[in-house]
Amino acid sequence: MDFQKILDEIQEDVQPYFGKGAVADYIPALARVSPDQFAMALRLADGTEYSVGSAETPFSIQSISKLFSLMLAMDIMGEDLWTRVGREPSGTAFNSLVQLEYENGIPRNPFINAGAIVVTDVIASHSANAPRRVADFVRQLSGNDQNRVDEEVALSEWEHGYRNAALANLLRSFNNITGDVDSVLDVYFRQCAITMNCLDLVRAVQPLVLGGHSPIANRQVLTQREAKRVNAIMLTCGLYDAVGNFAYSVGLPAKSGVGGGIVAVLPGQFSIAVWAPELDAAGNSLVGTRALELFTTKTGLSIF
Ligand code: DON
Repeated sequence: MDFQKILDEIQEDVQPYFGKGAVADYIPALARVSPDQFAMALRLADGTEYSVGSAETPFSIQSISKLFSLMLAMDIMGEDLWTRVGREPSGTAFNSLVQLEYENGIPRNPFINAGAIVVTDVIASHSANAPRRVADFVRQLSGNDQNRVDEEVALSEWEHGYRNAALANLLRSFNNITGDVDSVLDVYFRQCAITMNCLDLVRAVQPLVLGGHSPIANRQVLTQREAKRVNAIMLTCGLYDAVGNFAYSVGLPAKSGVGGGIVAVLPGQFSIAVWAPELDAAGNSLVGTRALELFTTKTGLSIF
Protein backbone atom coordinates (compact mmCIF):
# COMPACT_ATOMS: atom_id res chain seq x y z
CA MET A 1 0.00 0.00 0.00
CA ASP A 2 1.36 3.47 -0.88
CA PHE A 3 0.89 5.14 2.51
CA GLN A 4 2.68 8.34 1.52
CA LYS A 5 0.29 8.84 -1.40
CA ILE A 6 -2.68 8.20 0.89
CA LEU A 7 -1.50 10.79 3.45
CA ASP A 8 -0.88 13.33 0.66
CA GLU A 9 -4.38 12.73 -0.70
CA ILE A 10 -5.91 13.14 2.76
CA GLN A 11 -4.22 16.51 3.22
CA GLU A 12 -5.92 17.65 -0.02
CA ASP A 13 -9.27 16.06 0.81
CA VAL A 14 -9.62 17.74 4.24
CA GLN A 15 -9.12 21.30 2.96
CA PRO A 16 -12.88 22.06 2.75
CA TYR A 17 -13.22 21.28 6.49
CA PHE A 18 -10.95 24.10 7.69
CA GLY A 19 -12.90 27.03 9.14
CA LYS A 20 -15.78 24.82 10.33
CA GLY A 21 -14.55 24.34 13.93
CA ALA A 22 -13.07 26.60 16.59
CA VAL A 23 -9.74 26.64 18.42
CA ALA A 24 -10.12 25.98 22.18
CA ASP A 25 -10.46 29.38 23.83
CA TYR A 26 -11.19 28.43 27.43
CA ILE A 27 -7.42 28.20 27.89
CA PRO A 28 -6.34 31.64 26.58
CA ALA A 29 -2.80 30.53 25.68
CA LEU A 30 -4.30 27.93 23.31
CA ALA A 31 -6.62 30.46 21.65
CA ARG A 32 -3.57 32.10 20.04
CA VAL A 33 -2.67 29.01 17.98
CA SER A 34 -3.05 29.52 14.24
CA PRO A 35 -6.10 27.42 13.14
CA ASP A 36 -5.00 26.50 9.62
CA GLN A 37 -2.22 24.08 10.59
CA PHE A 38 -2.30 20.39 9.70
CA ALA A 39 -0.04 17.41 10.27
CA MET A 40 -0.32 13.67 10.10
CA ALA A 41 2.20 10.94 10.90
CA LEU A 42 2.04 7.16 10.59
CA ARG A 43 4.39 4.57 12.04
CA LEU A 44 4.09 0.90 11.13
CA ALA A 45 4.94 -1.89 13.56
CA ASP A 46 8.25 -2.48 11.69
CA GLY A 47 9.31 1.14 12.39
CA THR A 48 8.66 2.59 8.92
CA GLU A 49 7.33 6.15 9.18
CA TYR A 50 5.38 8.44 6.86
CA SER A 51 4.21 12.01 7.40
CA VAL A 52 2.54 14.97 5.76
CA GLY A 53 2.21 18.65 6.74
CA SER A 54 3.81 20.11 9.87
CA ALA A 55 4.62 16.75 11.46
CA GLU A 56 7.62 18.17 13.30
CA THR A 57 5.81 21.21 14.73
CA PRO A 58 5.18 20.77 18.47
CA PHE A 59 1.71 21.47 19.86
CA SER A 60 0.02 21.26 23.24
CA ILE A 61 -0.94 17.60 23.76
CA GLN A 62 -3.50 18.43 26.49
CA SER A 63 -5.68 15.38 27.21
CA ILE A 64 -3.46 13.07 25.15
CA SER A 65 -1.19 13.29 28.22
CA LYS A 66 -3.85 11.28 30.10
CA LEU A 67 -2.81 8.26 28.08
CA PHE A 68 0.76 8.48 29.34
CA SER A 69 -0.26 9.20 32.93
CA LEU A 70 -2.62 6.19 32.83
CA MET A 71 0.27 3.95 31.74
CA LEU A 72 2.37 5.20 34.65
CA ALA A 73 -0.46 4.80 37.19
CA MET A 74 -1.21 1.23 36.01
CA ASP A 75 2.43 0.44 36.57
CA ILE A 76 2.31 1.96 40.09
CA MET A 77 -1.02 0.58 41.35
CA GLY A 78 -1.84 -2.40 39.14
CA GLU A 79 -5.47 -3.54 39.42
CA ASP A 80 -5.99 -1.50 42.61
CA LEU A 81 -6.21 1.60 40.42
CA TRP A 82 -9.77 0.53 39.51
CA THR A 83 -10.95 1.01 43.09
CA ARG A 84 -10.44 4.75 42.57
CA VAL A 85 -11.53 5.25 38.97
CA GLY A 86 -13.93 3.37 36.69
CA ARG A 87 -13.63 2.26 33.09
CA GLU A 88 -16.98 3.06 31.57
CA PRO A 89 -17.73 5.81 29.06
CA SER A 90 -19.19 8.86 30.79
CA GLY A 91 -21.57 10.15 28.14
CA THR A 92 -20.75 13.61 29.47
CA ALA A 93 -18.35 16.39 28.52
CA PHE A 94 -14.73 15.90 29.57
CA ASN A 95 -14.94 18.59 32.24
CA SER A 96 -18.42 17.82 33.60
CA LEU A 97 -19.03 17.88 37.36
CA VAL A 98 -22.50 16.36 37.63
CA GLN A 99 -21.74 12.62 37.53
CA LEU A 100 -18.97 12.89 40.10
CA GLU A 101 -21.31 14.02 42.86
CA TYR A 102 -23.94 11.33 42.47
CA GLU A 103 -21.36 8.59 41.85
CA ASN A 104 -19.65 9.37 45.18
CA GLY A 105 -16.38 10.77 43.88
CA ILE A 106 -15.39 7.79 41.69
CA PRO A 107 -14.87 9.19 38.17
CA ARG A 108 -16.29 7.09 35.33
CA ASN A 109 -12.93 6.67 33.57
CA PRO A 110 -9.30 7.89 33.61
CA PHE A 111 -9.71 10.12 30.53
CA ILE A 112 -12.35 12.57 31.70
CA ASN A 113 -10.75 15.38 33.70
CA ALA A 114 -11.96 14.03 37.07
CA GLY A 115 -10.45 10.60 36.38
CA ALA A 116 -7.22 12.08 35.09
CA ILE A 117 -6.91 14.18 38.26
CA VAL A 118 -7.20 11.01 40.37
CA VAL A 119 -4.55 9.34 38.19
CA THR A 120 -2.34 12.40 38.67
CA ASP A 121 -2.77 12.08 42.44
CA VAL A 122 -1.60 8.44 42.22
CA ILE A 123 1.52 9.50 40.32
CA ALA A 124 2.17 12.52 42.55
CA SER A 125 1.97 10.45 45.72
CA HIS A 126 4.52 7.96 44.35
CA SER A 127 7.07 10.30 42.76
CA ALA A 128 10.00 12.24 44.14
CA ASN A 129 9.65 14.87 41.44
CA ALA A 130 5.99 14.61 40.47
CA PRO A 131 5.78 17.62 38.11
CA ARG A 132 8.49 16.07 35.92
CA ARG A 133 7.42 12.44 35.99
CA VAL A 134 4.99 12.40 33.03
CA ALA A 135 7.21 14.66 30.90
CA ASP A 136 10.23 12.42 31.58
CA PHE A 137 8.22 9.34 30.61
CA VAL A 138 7.05 11.01 27.38
CA ARG A 139 10.63 11.96 26.48
CA GLN A 140 11.72 8.34 26.97
CA LEU A 141 8.87 6.95 24.87
CA SER A 142 9.25 9.47 22.02
CA GLY A 143 13.06 9.66 22.12
CA ASN A 144 12.76 13.46 21.83
CA ASP A 145 14.44 15.53 24.55
CA GLN A 146 12.67 18.63 23.21
CA ASN A 147 9.29 17.45 24.58
CA ARG A 148 8.80 19.92 27.40
CA VAL A 149 6.19 21.59 29.55
CA ASP A 150 5.00 24.88 28.02
CA GLU A 151 4.96 27.00 31.17
CA GLU A 152 2.81 29.69 29.56
CA VAL A 153 0.06 27.16 28.80
CA ALA A 154 0.35 25.61 32.27
CA LEU A 155 -0.01 29.06 33.88
CA SER A 156 -2.92 29.92 31.62
CA GLU A 157 -4.69 26.75 32.78
CA TRP A 158 -4.11 27.70 36.40
CA GLU A 159 -5.58 31.14 35.85
CA HIS A 160 -8.72 29.78 34.18
CA GLY A 161 -8.94 26.35 35.79
CA TYR A 162 -12.10 26.93 37.82
CA ARG A 163 -13.75 23.70 36.68
CA ASN A 164 -10.66 21.58 37.30
CA ALA A 165 -10.27 23.16 40.74
CA ALA A 166 -13.93 22.37 41.44
CA LEU A 167 -13.44 18.75 40.34
CA ALA A 168 -10.28 18.38 42.43
CA ASN A 169 -11.96 19.81 45.54
CA LEU A 170 -15.00 17.55 45.07
CA LEU A 171 -12.65 14.55 44.70
CA ARG A 172 -10.82 15.63 47.86
CA SER A 173 -14.13 15.81 49.75
CA PHE A 174 -14.71 12.14 48.85
CA ASN A 175 -11.12 11.30 49.90
CA ASN A 176 -10.34 10.22 46.35
CA ILE A 177 -7.43 12.64 46.29
CA THR A 178 -4.92 12.07 49.04
CA GLY A 179 -2.51 14.90 48.32
CA ASP A 180 -2.79 18.66 48.59
CA VAL A 181 -5.35 19.85 46.00
CA ASP A 182 -3.20 22.68 44.61
CA SER A 183 -0.15 20.43 44.25
CA VAL A 184 -2.18 17.79 42.37
CA LEU A 185 -3.62 20.47 40.07
CA ASP A 186 -0.13 21.83 39.45
CA VAL A 187 1.06 18.39 38.27
CA TYR A 188 -2.12 17.93 36.19
CA PHE A 189 -1.81 21.30 34.44
CA ARG A 190 1.85 20.69 33.68
CA GLN A 191 1.24 17.30 32.13
CA CYS A 192 -1.52 18.78 29.92
CA ALA A 193 0.90 21.54 28.83
CA ILE A 194 3.51 19.11 27.45
CA THR A 195 4.33 19.82 23.79
CA MET A 196 4.93 17.06 21.24
CA ASN A 197 4.69 16.76 17.46
CA CYS A 198 2.89 14.10 15.41
CA LEU A 199 6.05 12.05 14.85
CA ASP A 200 6.76 12.06 18.61
CA LEU A 201 3.23 10.81 19.24
CA VAL A 202 3.34 7.86 16.84
CA ARG A 203 6.64 6.80 18.40
CA ALA A 204 5.49 7.29 21.99
CA VAL A 205 2.38 5.10 21.63
CA GLN A 206 4.19 2.18 20.03
CA PRO A 207 3.78 0.13 23.26
CA LEU A 208 0.05 0.08 22.43
CA VAL A 209 0.87 -1.36 18.99
CA LEU A 210 3.57 -3.78 20.12
CA GLY A 211 2.06 -5.51 23.16
CA GLY A 212 3.60 -3.11 25.70
CA HIS A 213 7.09 -2.83 24.19
CA SER A 214 8.65 0.54 23.40
CA PRO A 215 11.21 0.22 20.59
CA ILE A 216 12.41 3.77 21.34
CA ALA A 217 12.93 3.31 25.10
CA ASN A 218 13.99 -0.26 24.31
CA ARG A 219 12.00 -1.79 27.14
CA GLN A 220 8.66 -3.31 28.04
CA VAL A 221 6.69 -0.40 29.55
CA LEU A 222 3.40 -2.31 29.96
CA THR A 223 2.55 -5.99 30.06
CA GLN A 224 0.78 -7.30 26.98
CA ARG A 225 -2.42 -7.51 29.01
CA GLU A 226 -2.11 -3.91 30.22
CA ALA A 227 -1.55 -2.70 26.65
CA LYS A 228 -4.74 -4.50 25.59
CA ARG A 229 -6.60 -2.83 28.45
CA VAL A 230 -5.35 0.68 27.69
CA ASN A 231 -6.49 0.18 24.07
CA ALA A 232 -9.92 -0.95 25.29
CA ILE A 233 -10.25 2.18 27.44
CA MET A 234 -9.22 4.37 24.51
CA LEU A 235 -11.86 2.74 22.31
CA THR A 236 -14.63 3.22 24.86
CA CYS A 237 -13.60 6.50 26.54
CA GLY A 238 -10.87 8.22 24.45
CA LEU A 239 -13.09 10.81 22.80
CA TYR A 240 -15.53 11.56 25.63
CA ASP A 241 -19.17 11.85 24.60
CA ALA A 242 -18.17 11.65 20.91
CA VAL A 243 -16.64 8.20 21.33
CA GLY A 244 -19.48 6.26 19.70
CA ASN A 245 -19.45 8.46 16.62
CA PHE A 246 -15.68 8.18 16.39
CA ALA A 247 -15.77 4.37 16.60
CA TYR A 248 -18.50 4.40 13.93
CA SER A 249 -16.66 6.67 11.51
CA VAL A 250 -12.97 5.85 12.23
CA GLY A 251 -12.89 2.49 14.00
CA LEU A 252 -9.65 2.81 15.96
CA PRO A 253 -8.83 3.18 19.70
CA ALA A 254 -7.75 6.82 20.05
CA LYS A 255 -7.11 9.68 22.44
CA SER A 256 -7.76 13.34 21.68
CA GLY A 257 -6.73 16.64 23.23
CA VAL A 258 -8.10 20.19 23.03
CA GLY A 259 -4.81 21.28 21.43
CA GLY A 260 -6.24 19.61 18.29
CA GLY A 261 -4.19 16.41 18.39
CA ILE A 262 -5.55 12.86 18.10
CA VAL A 263 -3.45 9.72 18.35
CA ALA A 264 -4.85 6.33 17.34
CA VAL A 265 -3.56 2.77 17.07
CA LEU A 266 -4.29 -0.47 15.27
CA PRO A 267 -2.73 -3.05 17.62
CA GLY A 268 -0.07 -5.10 15.88
CA GLN A 269 -0.08 -2.84 12.82
CA PHE A 270 0.44 0.91 13.23
CA SER A 271 0.06 4.11 15.20
CA ILE A 272 -1.23 7.29 13.58
CA ALA A 273 -1.37 10.89 14.80
CA VAL A 274 -3.08 13.94 13.40
CA TRP A 275 -3.04 17.60 14.42
CA ALA A 276 -5.42 20.35 13.31
CA PRO A 277 -6.30 22.88 16.03
CA GLU A 278 -9.96 23.63 15.24
CA LEU A 279 -12.31 21.57 17.43
CA ASP A 280 -15.85 20.29 17.05
CA ALA A 281 -18.54 20.78 19.70
CA ALA A 282 -17.28 17.82 21.77
CA GLY A 283 -13.73 19.25 21.97
CA ASN A 284 -12.10 16.93 19.42
CA SER A 285 -10.18 18.03 16.32
CA LEU A 286 -12.75 18.46 13.55
CA VAL A 287 -10.33 18.16 10.61
CA GLY A 288 -8.33 15.52 12.49
CA THR A 289 -11.36 13.26 12.92
CA ARG A 290 -12.20 13.65 9.24
CA ALA A 291 -8.57 12.84 8.28
CA LEU A 292 -8.58 9.64 10.35
CA GLU A 293 -11.93 8.62 8.88
CA LEU A 294 -10.45 9.07 5.40
CA PHE A 295 -7.40 7.02 6.39
CA THR A 296 -9.34 3.99 7.60
CA THR A 297 -11.73 4.26 4.63
CA LYS A 298 -9.01 4.54 1.99
CA THR A 299 -6.83 1.77 3.49
CA GLY A 300 -9.57 -0.52 4.80
CA LEU A 301 -7.49 -0.81 8.00
CA SER A 302 -9.42 -0.54 11.28
CA ILE A 303 -10.15 -2.82 14.22
CA PHE A 304 -13.51 -3.74 12.71
O1 DON B 1 -8.08 20.22 31.85
C1 DON B 1 -8.39 20.65 30.75
O2 DON B 1 -9.48 21.12 30.52
C2 DON B 1 -7.36 20.59 29.66
N1 DON B 1 -6.05 20.72 30.23
C3 DON B 1 -7.41 19.29 28.91
C4 DON B 1 -8.74 19.03 28.27
C5 DON B 1 -8.68 18.22 27.03
O3 DON B 1 -7.72 18.19 26.28
C6 DON B 1 -9.93 17.53 26.67
N2 DON B 1 -9.80 16.89 25.39
N3 DON B 1 -10.40 16.88 24.40
